Amino acid sequence: MKLMVINGPNLARLDIRDSSIYGDLNYGELKSLIENSAKALGFEADVRQSNDEATIISWLHEAADSKTPVIINPAAFTHYSYAIRDAAELLVAPLIEVHLSNPMAREEFRHTSVISGVANGTIAGFGPNSYVLAINALKALLG
Ligand code: DQA
Repeated sequence: MKLMVINGPNLARLDIRDSSIYGDLNYGELKSLIENSAKALGFEADVRQSNDEATIISWLHEAADSKTPVIINPAAFTHYSYAIRDAAELLVAPLIEVHLSNPMAREEFRHTSVISGVANGTIAGFGPNSYVLAINALKALLG
């Protein structure tokens, strides 16, 4: 089964972001971890990253049309993009929100997610393992 994994702004630059917050993997390593973990559970993961809100919205439309399950780390868009939320609401298959860090334990502006309300669930705070946990959750959801 296909799975779309969408990563939002600045996540391709994990190599220069604060590793004490986001973990030690660079984006390429994170992408491989996601692809391999998905494969082990029978998913073919299509892992994407964009800094552009419109591109992420188009990808969500594509997943809605193809009824593909989605794991999304909307990054900073989490906290304010009503447009991404509205696009996520169109999905037919499950949606899981993930974060490397635990936004609730950080600055106050990160405490709001406008995406959580349209996701099946959120996994945050486990570093790269958040994605692995999300793939397992998706497997359990889909049976
Ligand atoms: C993030 C948390 C967001 O608050 C932040 O803007 C990010 C990454 C995370 O994975 O921990 O860019 O989504």
